[in-house]
Amino acid sequence: MEPIRSYQEYLNHYEEAQANPTGYWDKVARDLEWFRPWKRVCTGDFSDLNIKWFEGGTTNLSSNCLDRHLKNKGKKTALIYVSNNPKEPPQKITYSELQQKVCRMASVFSNLGIKKGDVICFYMGMVPELMIGILAATRIGAIHSVVFGGFSAQSLSGRIQDCQAKLLVTNDGGYRGDKIIALKEVADEALKDCPSIQTVVVHRRTKNAVKMQDGRDLWLHDLETTATTVFPATPMEAEDPLFILYTSGSTGKPKGLLHTTAGYMVYAYHTFRNVFQMSEEDIFWCTADIGWVTGHTYLTYGPLLNGNTTVMYEGIPVYPDAGRFWQIIDQLQVTHFYTAPTAIRALQATDLSFVTKCKLDSLKVLGSVGEPINEEAWSWYNTHIGKGRCPIVDTWWQTETGGIMISPLAHVTECIPAHATHPLPGITPILVNSSGKEIMETEAEGNLCIKNPWPGMARTIWGDHDRFRKTYFETYKGLYFTGDGARRDAKGNYRITGRVDDVINVSGHRLGTAEIEDAINTHPDVVESAVVGYPHKIKGQGIYVFCICPQAPNNPEQVKKELMAAVTKVIGPIAKPDLIQFVTGLPKTRSGKIMRRILRKVAEGDLSNMGDNSTLLNPDIVDEIVKGKLS
Ligand code: PRX
Repeated sequence: MEPIRSYQEYLNHYEEAQANPTGYWDKVARDLEWFRPWKRVCTGDFSDLNIKWFEGGTTNLSSNCLDRHLKNKGKKTALIYVSNNPKEPPQKITYSELQQKVCRMASVFSNLGIKKGDVICFYMGMVPELMIGILAATRIGAIHSVVFGGFSAQSLSGRIQDCQAKLLVTNDGGYRGDKIIALKEVADEALKDCPSIQTVVVHRRTKNAVKMQDGRDLWLHDLETTATTVFPATPMEAEDPLFILYTSGSTGKPKGLLHTTAGYMVYAYHTFRNVFQMSEEDIFWCTADIGWVTGHTYLTYGPLLNGNTTVMYEGIPVYPDAGRFWQIIDQLQVTHFYTAPTAIRALQATDLSFVTKCKLDSLKVLGSVGEPINEEAWSWYNTHIGKGRCPIVDTWWQTETGGIMISPLAHVTECIPAHATHPLPGITPILVNSSGKEIMETEAEGNLCIKNPWPGMARTIWGDHDRFRKTYFETYKGLYFTGDGARRDAKGNYRITGRVDDVINVSGHRLGTAEIEDAINTHPDVVESAVVGYPHKIKGQGIYVFCICPQAPNNPEQVKKELMAAVTKVIGPIAKPDLIQFVTGLPKTRSGKIMRRILRKVAEGDLSNMGDNSTLLNPDIVDEIVKGKLS
């Protein structure tokens, strides 16, 4: 299907996908290669939750990303790899080289006895072998589960235990600015409780000393010596599991969202090409880590499915200085740059000369993802990076949705500051009010739901279909509930206002407040805690902890340090609290429920209109909490 090239074409596509969704997706799917065509485009709905796309068809994601392009684009650069160290020159890998590397990794996995349906966990830095590894997993039909390298040993082991991975692929260490993250050491700690792991494959990156356990740990470079570079892709049924990706929810335990083969592939392909509108020679750079869904869909699969050139960067935005992103854009002549508001805000806070030293004249399109972008950051991004001539696609989506759901199409539909604007073809967002009724007025505010299945949606929570149903499909019967609130203007443009559940978005990282509370509560002096988000200049939301200790700590600063350490141990440094307030109680209803509304208001510093507290079990506590408020 030809990409959408004008506003009128967008309207036509949207209408066609509304009137005849199966006909629409049938046409899109024909662009890709299938071993066997599908029999039915879509069956199932949000009530039976047995949704299947392209049933009867067989295909392979890795061969669609690579082999499909060999004839015409074998010599084209597929991946440009930029190391943490600015002195190391960027590494260009062509489609044909990438295909061979993926075959070799597939052969390594296969020689280790990994078969279709086995789970491979990846706990790595941003090295090409991570991208090669997930593509190799899909090539042999293994399910990949990437765990972000910033998670702790405990988080890693919890995820491995949940998905019962057989193989772990990791690095000796990962570079992050001037630090080395001891990934293998963390993995060793995690694996003390992971009997499902039979083998650990270690890719050497930092050359720091690591312990290799006999009979379990093997170096990738040793395994490669006996591997082949020809490895045919395994035909996968359309609904065969593709990957599991863990994300936080409103309860303590992260959920493993399962995406399946064909629907995800078709959706990644179609959304990438239409939102970003790349030309053949363009260069796409998504700054997300492959440990997050953005790194799956728009660093790896979307660009490769479309035969485009994608950039992968190992390091952080501020190493060796705050100009690194802009220097890389100039050096590689990046045309499409896709990042998170938190990175924009952090760089906006540094000296503008880091930006003005660079030309940035290769840029054509800018993107934003992961959290609401405030108007100030939007406008800085637009003025200083896009020089007022690049559209900014504010793309709203989630781990659960697999790909972009609401977004402008670059150069095709209108971009409005801080608005995700219109849904993509095939997506039917609606707003519902607190009683679950669809709001029919165009101009409205409510909870954001999606009305109909789409190919890229997650099919279940790994091992817990009931939780999948309860989390997303029971709040509002017959609808997928996103957990986000949104406003819609008179022209139907959506603006996402943020989470309406107990999930917070800290520097674009999605964290459950319950998860953080569980970590805080592991401290022996803590009886109970409550975590809420509050507006934070750089991170979007900061983490505010209200913590009950039976005795006021003699040395509160020491206890705070210990609490930080507890969170780092249980979750990882990304979940470290910003503010910790010791309290003697928490405001509770007579039935014992914590009144988070009050805590949120305190944390936000909005002490007006605290509401009627007389129904609280302990109304006096509110005064104490307000007096001790931190900022
Ligand atoms: O609250 C929304 C926010 O990020 C959540 C999804 O987080 P995650 O599954 O980690 O995926 C992030 C990358 C897709 C959403 O529920 N979010 C994501 N994109 C936007 C956004 N909020 C506002 N505007 C966006 N463009």
